Amino acid sequence: MRMVDIIHKKRNGKELMEEEIRFFIEGYTKGDIPDYQASALMMAIYFQGMVPRETALLTKAMVDSGETIDLSAIQGHKVDKHSTGGVGDKVTFIVGPLVASANVPVAKMSGRGLGHTGGTLDKLESIEGFNIELTKEQFIHNVNQHKLSIAGQTGNLAPADKKLYALRDVTATVESIPLIAGSIMSKKLASGADSIVLDVKTGSGAFMKTLEDSKALAKEMTAIGNNLGRKTVAIISDMNQPLGFEIGNANEIKEAVAILQGAKVEDLRRLSLEIASHMTVLAGAFEHYKQAYKTLEQHLENGKAYEAFRQFVIAQGGNADMIDDVSKLPQAKHHIQVKSDTEGYVAEIDAESIGTAAMYLGAGRATKDDKINHGVGITLKKKIGDEVKKGDVLVTLHANKENPEDSIRKIAEAYRFSDEPVESPTLIHLVIQ
Ligand code: URA
Repeated sequence: MRMVDIIHKKRNGKELMEEEIRFFIEGYTKGDIPDYQASALMMAIYFQGMVPRETALLTKAMVDSGETIDLSAIQGHKVDKHSTGGVGDKVTFIVGPLVASANVPVAKMSGRGLGHTGGTLDKLESIEGFNIELTKEQFIHNVNQHKLSIAGQTGNLAPADKKLYALRDVTATVESIPLIAGSIMSKKLASGADSIVLDVKTGSGAFMKTLEDSKALAKEMTAIGNNLGRKTVAIISDMNQPLGFEIGNANEIKEAVAILQGAKVEDLRRLSLEIASHMTVLAGAFEHYKQAYKTLEQHLENGKAYEAFRQFVIAQGGNADMIDDVSKLPQAKHHIQVKSDTEGYVAEIDAESIGTAAMYLGAGRATKDDKINHGVGITLKKKIGDEVKKGDVLVTLHANKENPEDSIRKIAEAYRFSDEPVESPTLIHLVIQ
């Protein structure tokens, strides 16, 4: 078999066979197929697409390129969640304890990632002492004991995806639905959970800007999961503005704790309950979604979800005083109000610009060696639909420098106003099972 023939076939819009897909993935992982041929194939897939059968075969080949995690030592039906990424997305810190409070095990491997704010692990490390480097035995022990553990990835999961994703990033081939679906699902399938809930973001701050594309991606991913033996549900949720009000590492932990203690931040609470309800139904803890939702809502009110979070933090060495009293979490030196110089109704808050403003403050990494500053971040004071008068505060920047000009400029770019009243966007567009 020759790589050039595979590229030629896909370039001409033909379906690839299982042997061809495996030849490519195995050869590329080993280093036998050079980057220039892999890039050409990625571009051919970008333009010609793949039918669901090919995407499933690609995903399976990427799973088989490395190790898979065996979670069979964990009692019960293990559920996982994945978000396609958004600004202010601290849902994992709410959903994990909520699901654990219903006695359903969540064994979650997460990343740090480049980006606007830190990844899940960076956010957890805002809590003094929190240890994300667990051995496999500790990880399994913690899940059996407390129903929840979140740790850094161990093992060599889907190495083909790691290599291909890095290549796609520099060859303008990231935005392809079969390639994204295969990439995300290969990592999820290798992580060993029995069921998966996907939070597919849609809107200006998401990978997928239109509902149509988000739906296509969600359908493709649920089909792969279900066909490969994992019950998979996708929720399409809105990312036309950041989720909740807090962006940054300690800031996001603070907001998650508030929700776990019963605070009513509407979009964040609603989406967390939605995801957690589907997870617990997939695990068989409840028969119906409505019953799950109602019970989990009670767990936010009666302290059960917060207690699950507390136990999880303590089990991973975190200082629980910092979550019992969130003013003890890392703090920035300066709190700068950015005020509006126009009036009207907030029509848009570009999540990417807000994320970039947070990154400039030091909340995220521009390169993988950058150090995260856990105390800096942004608090939104106005969201879509809010009425704004001249001089009203739009956001508070929590910064370590006195005049973070570049972040202030980004905030001004992020907000757009309308003279007419604006409705806040629909939060949950669709659930695909
Ligand atoms: N996230 C991934 O893990 N892979 C993609 O291709 C896109 C987003």
